[in-house]
Amino acid sequence: MAKVQIIVGSIRDNRVGRKVADWFYDIGLNRKDFDLELVDLREVDLPMFNEPNHPRFGNYVYEHTKAWSARVASADAYVFVTPEYNHSFPSALKNALDYLSAEWRFKTAGFVSYGGVAAGTRAVQALKPVLSCFQMAMVLEQVNIPFVGALFNEDGEFKPPQASVDAANVLYDRLGFWIEHQVPLLKK
Ligand SMILES: Cc1cc2nc3c(=O)[nH]c(=O)nc-3n(C[C@H](O)[C@H](O)[C@H](O)COP(=O)(O)O)c2cc1C
Repeated sequence: MAKVQIIVGSIRDNRVGRKVADWFYDIGLNRKDFDLELVDLREVDLPMFNEPNHPRFGNYVYEHTKAWSARVASADAYVFVTPEYNHSFPSALKNALDYLSAEWRFKTAGFVSYGGVAAGTRAVQALKPVLSCFQMAMVLEQVNIPFVGALFNEDGEFKPPQASVDAANVLYDRLGFWIEHQVPLLKK
């Protein structure tokens, strides 16, 4: 079974990102077609990028980088759960990406974005050129959630509309399509 990591890109106190990621993760768990792992960058807790060598050489000095490398390398695909911060994606996510190189290369990437009126789409558009440095295959269909703050009930549970649930399932379907084509290439 292909392994998909769902990467939570926001790390601030009081963030909604973890709840959005948990929601997407739960939809995937019910489908039972992927080995899913939630990767919360707040828990990974990387310092600002401090490796002395370019990550493309893979000769990491720090234990935090070695651990991050092993974890990311274990997945076939990633779904980046990202808010929009100032028309882009959070610095914690850029930091986590910059730490590595070959671990991301040729893998499949999907997006769950959220924000205000633009639903985090500008964050995804900013993320794409970064991921293209790793030659990642980016799934066209996305989950883009507008006005995220209005989608929590009085108990603080994330309750997006059915259209978002449908979009999440389409994203999982497309991840499966690309993984099927990419995993054999990666193993060559
Ligand atoms: C520093 C900062 C910048 C933001 N910039 C934008 C923005 O450019 N566009 C937008 O739609 N929402 C913006 N927002 C609102 C966020 O999308 C919203 O607060 C969301 O909950 C942030 O995700 P998080 O709670 O997981 O951190 C911004 C929020 C913060 C904290």
